[in-house]
Amino acid sequence: MTHSSLDFMVSRSDLRQGQWQTTPLPALSDGEVLIKIDHFALTANNITYAAFGEAMGYWKFFPAPEGLGRIPVWGYGDIVESRHPDLIVGERVYGYLPMSSHLVIEADRVSKSSFIDRAEHRAGLAAVYNNYMRVSSDGTHQASAEPAQSILWPLFMTSFVIDDFLADNRFFEAEQVVISSASSKTSLGLAFTLKQAARDGIAIVGLTSKANIAFVEATGYYTKVVAYEDITALPLIASVFVDMAGGGSVLAAVHNHFADKMTYSCSVGGTHWEDRVVTKGLPGPRPTLFFAPAQIKKRHTDWGPGGLDQRVAGVWTAFLADIDRWLKISEGRGPEAVEAIYHEVLEGKSRPEQGHMASVAV
Ligand SMILES: NC(=O)c1ccc[n+]([C@@H]2O[C@H](COP(=O)([O-])OP(=O)(O)OC[C@H]3O[C@@H](n4cnc5c(N)ncnc54)[C@H](OP(=O)(O)O)[C@@H]3O)[C@@H](O)[C@H]2O)c1
Repeated sequence: MTHSSLDFMVSRSDLRQGQWQTTPLPALSDGEVLIKIDHFALTANNITYAAFGEAMGYWKFFPAPEGLGRIPVWGYGDIVESRHPDLIVGERVYGYLPMSSHLVIEADRVSKSSFIDRAEHRAGLAAVYNNYMRVSSDGTHQASAEPAQSILWPLFMTSFVIDDFLADNRFFEAEQVVISSASSKTSLGLAFTLKQAARDGIAIVGLTSKANIAFVEATGYYTKVVAYEDITALPLIASVFVDMAGGGSVLAAVHNHFADKMTYSCSVGGTHWEDRVVTKGLPGPRPTLFFAPAQIKKRHTDWGPGGLDQRVAGVWTAFLADIDRWLKISEGRGPEAVEAIYHEVLEGKSRPEQGHMASVAV
């Protein structure tokens, strides 16, 4: 019987301050299961969860002592104790986890393929984050596919629905889609999906740091790749902006350049989380926060049960078949490795081709 969990926590007011805490685990109550966390992915997306922890409720998933936060990650673990009649010890699960060695879940709505954590502190948070997949129900599951699933899948669904949202709105009559942080995995997924759809006359333009240009070009997903410094060289044609960087400087540069040629400005990410340049009164349309669940809900209504999943599955399979060309996965095990990877990702020091898996367990 495990009596404690080792948890990585950060200061909510300074994400650079991390610490480990050993938290005693209470005896399980009826309906609860104890998960031993095996491994999880770490990308800029997790840093954005932390940067928007307060504003968007990401700190609520895994409670921490006053002033500290536990950053959510996506990954795999095994049930090592169970007080739920339908969930057995040894089952492997995939879902939203803390950077910890263990997690207690109050399991509910157990189906053949999934269950939810109905803990009170998670009530009211988006359903997608409270859902855990039962790996045993996936006949095609292979352990070797877990890293790519953990690193890319939570991002790819967003990539897919951005493409779908733009197509649903006839690309706001634009001739090009300009995407910032083009080297991020979410942007690569979007560019791949846009390219797969092969829409005549719509260029896919990636904006990235100088150091990442060669990598982004080599993926072949973008029509054109441009450094942030060269935004003013882009042709002044009707454009949609998909902002994955979320920094004030890039947003201002893109809006000032395209001005009334910009037909829609879509705010998705925040990889440039420290660039807090104020951007009020910019020319062009007001940046609109992209809310993936709204488009997902719309498509569930439009396409009926399974309609969206079926469409995503086709492009996801094609994407997975292509990633070996550019994605290099590595795994660090133990608290020191977890902390080192966290700081590397936080500071934006990872190469974009790097896919980090981490594990608190040695
Ligand atoms: N709204 C949603 O539902 C949703 C869903 C999924 C993802 N997202 C967002 O999409 C963004 C991309 O996430 P990801 O996991 O795909 O990222 P990722 O693959 O880890 O992105 C790495 C890239 O982000 C930029 N970057 C990372 N850290 C940086 C730093 N400290 N300073 C400056 N640039 C930095 C660099 O790109 P460049 O040099 O190209 O700028 C870097 O190559 C995140 O902000 C994430 O939250 C949002």
